[in-house]
Amino acid sequence: MILETATGRRAAEVARDFPILADRTSTGKRLTYLDSAASSQKPQAVIDSLVHYYAHDNANIHRGVYELAERATAEFEGAREKLAHFVNAAEPAEIIWTRNTTEAINLVSFSWGLENLRPGDAILTSQLEHHSNLVPWQLLAAKTGAELRFIEVDAQGRHLLDDLDAKLRGVKLVAISHVSNTLGTIAPLARIIPTAHAAGAVVLIDAAQSVPHMPVDVQALDVDFLAASGHKMCGPTGIGFLYGKRALLEAMPPFLTGGDMIRSVEYTSASFNEIPWKFEAGTSNIADAIALGAAVDYLKTLGMDWVRAHERELTAYALERLRTLEPLGIELYGPPDPAERGGVISFNLGDVHAHDLASILNTEGVCVRAGHHCTMPLMTKMGWPATARASFYVYNTEEDVEILIEALHKAARIFKLA
Ligand code: ALA
Repeated sequence: MILETATGRRAAEVARDFPILADRTSTGKRLTYLDSAASSQKPQAVIDSLVHYYAHDNANIHRGVYELAERATAEFEGAREKLAHFVNAAEPAEIIWTRNTTEAINLVSFSWGLENLRPGDAILTSQLEHHSNLVPWQLLAAKTGAELRFIEVDAQGRHLLDDLDAKLRGVKLVAISHVSNTLGTIAPLARIIPTAHAAGAVVLIDAAQSVPHMPVDVQALDVDFLAASGHKMCGPTGIGFLYGKRALLEAMPPFLTGGDMIRSVEYTSASFNEIPWKFEAGTSNIADAIALGAAVDYLKTLGMDWVRAHERELTAYALERLRTLEPLGIELYGPPDPAERGGVISFNLGDVHAHDLASILNTEGVCVRAGHHCTMPLMTKMGWPATARASFYVYNTEEDVEILIEALHKAARIFKLA
């Protein structure tokens, strides 16, 4: 019996904005897309924006004085303004376009990190991090002689903060994910950020799994850097952004160098453009930035409070329904309280390998990710070889959860767990 809620009914309407969700699999199954933590689907408005740009507005930006180039420039910078407003940056100049979250984090690691870290300093991250918010800091620590430290997590993936003050001694940078891509844990940023600042550290937030799913206000958080990706928030692949406070960005050297990021160049020297362009060498990903602006417009129409409320309700419903599979040996990971997690549920069913489970779900049109989710150290710590992961977004409904539950029953029959 499907619990029909008001947010669920709205999500069913929202799903109609996403043409791919009307498609069938090669075996004629309804597409049950539960992998939005990996990449979200795109509404027609975003697809239209891309097509319109290439059909009517395509020209290089910041260079031409003709009408077409000026229109492309205005749309590109307009998209930056939309994004700045979306995360409540003080000004658009604090938004730097990057390829994705990973590139934004690497920008901070190379540009801020190499300038500011010395032997004896420390970087604090957590045991939950995606490789993209871990490996850059491993390399930075190796290059600068800084120490890499970790906020530990409990068996449910909740941050253990009792020793936070001690862990922060000597820390110059705290780099932490807002929402875990593997367990859904929402980091207690209201505690971590002020404590880190009081200890003299700069704070970077990997917001790849939060900006698409909940209201995020960089000024209210008082975060120094924040990184996110367009493709997880209804936008295209290949475009993401770094938010940084003006004073920090201005003091940093460029990351990549070349055209557009300069003020003037002589044969043996150059001076650099102001922010944000100082960090945007070469021709930018113009079309995708503009389409990300269309994705922001779309999400604003839905309302980020609604997005969070819907996902929280759907996650609570899914957890409850998945718990009915306990007699078949399901194990659910992450914080048990939906208030403490985003719309991501990792699980295993009996001793079935997560890849085999995902393959059976695929035969029912159910798309989930299986594996280590780019968090290999976390999997090792928890003792899980792999997990299957269902993740929700604006277009998912209770019906999707029921199809997942049915498909899991099918897997249990195939693997004789019943
Ligand atoms: N970071 C993305 C995920 O968790 C790719 O699936």
